[in-house]
Amino acid sequence: MIYLDNGATSFPKPERVLASVEKTIRMGSGTPGRGSHEKALAAGYAVEKARRETARFFGLFEDFRAIFTYSATDALNMAIKGFVRKGDKVLMSAVEHNSTSRQLFRMKRDKYIDLDIVRCDEKGFLDMEDLEKKTGTDTKLVVISHASNVTGALQDIELAGRIVREKGSFLLLDAAQTVARVPIDMGAMPIDMVAFAGHKGFFSLQGVGGLLIGERVRNLKPFREGGTGFDSASEIQPAPWPEAFEAGTCNVPGIVSLYEGIKFIKETGLENIAAEEKRKIKIIRDFLAGLDAVRIYGPGPDEPSVSLISFNIKGWEPEDVGAVLSENYEIAVRTGLQCAPLAHKCIGTFPAGTVRVSPGYFTTDEEINIFCKAVRVMAETLVPVY
Ligand SMILES: Cc1ncc(COP(=O)(O)O)c(C=O)c1O
Repeated sequence: MIYLDNGATSFPKPERVLASVEKTIRMGSGTPGRGSHEKALAAGYAVEKARRETARFFGLFEDFRAIFTYSATDALNMAIKGFVRKGDKVLMSAVEHNSTSRQLFRMKRDKYIDLDIVRCDEKGFLDMEDLEKKTGTDTKLVVISHASNVTGALQDIELAGRIVREKGSFLLLDAAQTVARVPIDMGAMPIDMVAFAGHKGFFSLQGVGGLLIGERVRNLKPFREGGTGFDSASEIQPAPWPEAFEAGTCNVPGIVSLYEGIKFIKETGLENIAAEEKRKIKIIRDFLAGLDAVRIYGPGPDEPSVSLISFNIKGWEPEDVGAVLSENYEIAVRTGLQCAPLAHKCIGTFPAGTVRVSPGYFTTDEEINIFCKAVRVMAETLVPVY
């Protein structure tokens, strides 16, 4: 199988990530904060070590600002539902993933918030003038995907963050597609909260993610309530961070794998990993651009983007391209709307969507060649074959 769907989840994982998970499961993991026996203490230590590493990775000084979640979606729910109050004005970009837009559309439908959408262009880039115009001094929160999971367009988040801060508003960054590929320093950049998934850029197991909470954010309500392992007599969720947000037994093997993933990124170098992925996406882009029947969407070769490309082949439904790639070539790509219908409306590919190809750090040039040849066959065969 040739895996070119790293935008959904990364594969394969570095050896040290695999080894750490196997060791954690084989040795048996206790529940952090629950009990004073050896395994519970060891698990607690491993989680706190990972918390420190995660906080530092995002330029945060205090460990308690790094909250472990179960996914990017979970982190976005925690941030939005914890921060927004009835009657608040909220903005999101026009390329948001369903993990943001579904919550906000539902809140709007329930007349809980006043929601507006900041325009993006046909490549998925945020319209900064529209952001400036729509962000009012009464805007509570602005949610922006750092990079679109449909087009790869990488937003100028320094500029967006400055605009948001000038109006006294708060910026929540969905970093699902950029984490560990584009540096995010919350100590230096105007970002208030960052949501990420471990299983993409950090090469961790699925089922672990995080919410980073910057210094300006106060009054975040717990999104999940339940056991924290301390202050058990309290009728309500205890206030101290990070436990206030981490009710329930956490995903210890997942968090350990995140720690190892971060170590791998630091040792290999975020820039080296990003450059290697960019080199591969360039090979794919150059090849696709040479095929008359192929249309590429999103940023041009010299515009800021992450390593994924959305395209369509004339005469082919995206789903059919995906099926042929999978069934005849054992190549995995993502097709359709990629959980981001808004982005497809923006780039004009709604409702059929696109074929999205996302090579990873471990993808070989030979695998890319096989993919390119397969696409050429379809691009030169304009009638779909079932
Ligand atoms: C931009 C973006 N946001 C959020 C998510 C949700 O991530 P998860 O499935 O880990 O919750 C994704 C996943 O594809 C994404 O690409």
